[in-house]
Amino acid sequence: MGLPASIVRPGLFKEKTDIFYKDVISGLKSVPKRLNSKYFYDAKGDQIFQEIMNCPEYYPTRCEMEIFSKKTAVLGDALIEGGGAFDLIELGAGDATKSSYLLKYLLDQKADFTYLPIDISENVISYLKNTLPVKLPGLKVNGLNGEYFDMLKHAERLSNRRKVVLFLGSNIGNMQLDEALNFCRLLREHLSEGDMVLMGFDLKKNPKTILAAYNDKDGITRRFNLNLLERINRELNADFHLSKFDHYPTYDTETGACRSYLISLEDQEVTIGQKEHIRFQKDEYIYMEISQKFTVLQAEQIAANAGFKTVNCIFDSKKWFLDAIWLAE
Ligand code: AVI
Repeated sequence: MGLPASIVRPGLFKEKTDIFYKDVISGLKSVPKRLNSKYFYDAKGDQIFQEIMNCPEYYPTRCEMEIFSKKTAVLGDALIEGGGAFDLIELGAGDATKSSYLLKYLLDQKADFTYLPIDISENVISYLKNTLPVKLPGLKVNGLNGEYFDMLKHAERLSNRRKVVLFLGSNIGNMQLDEALNFCRLLREHLSEGDMVLMGFDLKKNPKTILAAYNDKDGITRRFNLNLLERINRELNADFHLSKFDHYPTYDTETGACRSYLISLEDQEVTIGQKEHIRFQKDEYIYMEISQKFTVLQAEQIAANAGFKTVNCIFDSKKWFLDAIWLAE
């Protein structure tokens, strides 16, 4: 029998904070300095990310939403055709607005499946567990809070049904290209022949369109980046002055890498916890995030090199975004 939440939580919280602390310190002691963008998503970060998704410049969400709302049957039928009952696992589920179209379609088709959203944010998982069964009666939901592969292992132990993994929103773009390939290989190792993946890729397009998406005029993305410093202040007892850092996004047309940085506006020292002092020189940067953009060929090559066959490529009407369906071989 499980322990009451009040007894389990403090230890778990401390362990998570320790890992966060170690990652932050090692990132800020690296040359060049960096922070891991997975830490953007605390409760406030989740909320700012919602604002980003609704802002006029940030097109990826709208493009993928168009695919999920207008091509639901193409997506759903491809997954059902894989055969038999399945676990539909979503990595980084967020608010599941896009996947809700697919879930509804699968329920209407009387497909035998359980939805397992996985998210690093506790906030997100409790929201999904509370809202989805109300919004979609009959839906079986089992939300898993944690790191993707830990939770994927957990899902493997829960049932031996066929697995269909959703990795939407071009979350794959938040990795360097070599890391993205390694991630897909690891994903393949956690799956069996006949399992499927539905992977979202933000495609290369006019560089101005891309850069604007990460440099919105209302400064939402700027707040999103600075919120990580605020989170470090709050959770790790640091003293970052947010006004002494500026948001600087870049896009490299040749490689498709969109990167964001925070620039120190002056020489300064920041204290984290009791004993760590980090010096910043004026104009020194912290590398915050990569949002890689892909060609269709690159997406197909990643699939093939990771042990998947691309069975379908589904685009929005502008061909700015790709949802690829892969079959594990
Ligand atoms: C979650 N991820 C795919 C978003 C992206 O486009 O890289 C995160 C984001 N960062 C700034 N704006 C949006």
